[in-house]
Amino acid sequence: MKLTSPNVQLSAALKSACSTSRAHLFLIAFIVVVTCCFYFSGNSLPSPTGLFVKDRGSQTVSDLRQLSGQRVEKKGNVLQQHWKPDNAFNDSILQVLEKRYAERLRRAEKVCSQQEPALKNRFWSIASNEVDGKPRACSTRQCTILLDKTNLIYYCFVQKVASTAIKTYFLKITNKTTAHSAHDNVTAFHIEANDAITRISPMFYSRQKRQHFYKIIFVRHPFARLVSAYENKVLGPRDKLSFFFNNYWDKAMKKYRGVEQLDSDARPTFEEFVRYLLDTPVYKYDSHWVPYTKRCQPCLVHYDFIGKLETAEQDFHYVFQHELGLTETPAVENRGATTGDKVMFYFRQVPKSEILRLYYTYKMDFDIFGYEVNDFLK
Ligand SMILES: *[C@@H]1O[C@H](CO)[C@@H](O)[C@H](O)[C@H]1NC(C)=O
Ligand SMILES: *[C@@H]1O[C@H](CO)[C@@H](O)[C@H](O)[C@H]1NC(C)=O
Ligand SMILES: *[C@@H]1O[C@H](CO)[C@@H](O)[C@H](O)[C@H]1NC(C)=O
Repeated sequence: MKLTSPNVQLSAALKSACSTSRAHLFLIAFIVVVTCCFYFSGNSLPSPTGLFVKDRGSQTVSDLRQLSGQRVEKKGNVLQQHWKPDNAFNDSILQVLEKRYAERLRRAEKVCSQQEPALKNRFWSIASNEVDGKPRACSTRQCTILLDKTNLIYYCFVQKVASTAIKTYFLKITNKTTAHSAHDNVTAFHIEANDAITRISPMFYSRQKRQHFYKIIFVRHPFARLVSAYENKVLGPRDKLSFFFNNYWDKAMKKYRGVEQLDSDARPTFEEFVRYLLDTPVYKYDSHWVPYTKRCQPCLVHYDFIGKLETAEQDFHYVFQHELGLTETPAVENRGATTGDKVMFYFRQVPKSEILRLYYTYKMDFDIFGYEVNDFLK
């Protein structure tokens, strides 16, 4: 009797399986490759190359634990030294604020707990604009979190939500500089700040590492954000918006107006802007109007603090000084007067049925962050 070892039998079995179903194996390999590509490209199309990084942060869990201990200690000192009731926040104001912030977190957790199974299935990417301390490119669509690796601040950055103030502040607290200031040339400033500040995608750190960071998100009413995006990216200076006209607006206007040629100064109306949003799949949305929920993954990240532009002055002061023990607060910008009236003015140009569809596109943002749509549908 000829003895065959189990290994030989196995490899013989495999060999025959391979030859009989090589086509199947090719198919499986193909599916695996395609799935991986899709997974790592995240939500953003097209995906910039080479963004997948393996090290997921050079700091170890014990480094992070130590730093977060220091932060708690620093906060204690600051509270002792500076937070005697003063004219900014006395005890009665503080009580009101703490209740407000706890309420925001409670609401977000509640909505997320009802939605989580659906949200957990989202694809996300793991990316950073820095590997081994060296900068590399990562789009603002993908690397949405600003990091302070010393104070362990993790801040989901949303354009048009005090963006210049926040970047200026992060440069300052991380001791970094840019060649241009926001006053010199705001475009150059943003480009330089995006490189200088360490940025990651929301799921870059493991849950274990993430828990040592103080995680902050600032939002505003989703429709106010859209009006602000419209005013900036549609009505803004034409020579600075060629990206937006070439990629979005020219195509949209030709389609909606049924023309081949556009006047050189043609711009989408607000209603056309809304139609464009409704006709575009959310995964293709530009970072200026992609829902917060996609950009910042609140149901997976579990932010420690939810700030709102509507109460920015108090919220910045509270979170950076009272919560984090830093000695300064971002200088809140003049908000360009995107008032409720102005937002309403634009939305009155849009049929109610379209406003309702737009609301459903941003429904999670409305629900998680506690914003109302009723006034827009009356
Ligand atoms: C706290 O400050 C607010 C506004 O600055 C003021 O209206 C209020 O009376 C103060 N409360 C106390 C207890 O000092
Ligand atoms: C920034 O500089 C200050 C003062 O020189 C120093 O105390 C602080 O530790 C530095 N922070 C970082 C993140 O390097
Ligand atoms: C501002 O910076 C951008 C980007 O570097 C540059 O293209 C532009 O010419 C600058 N504008 C002025 C007024 O210097």
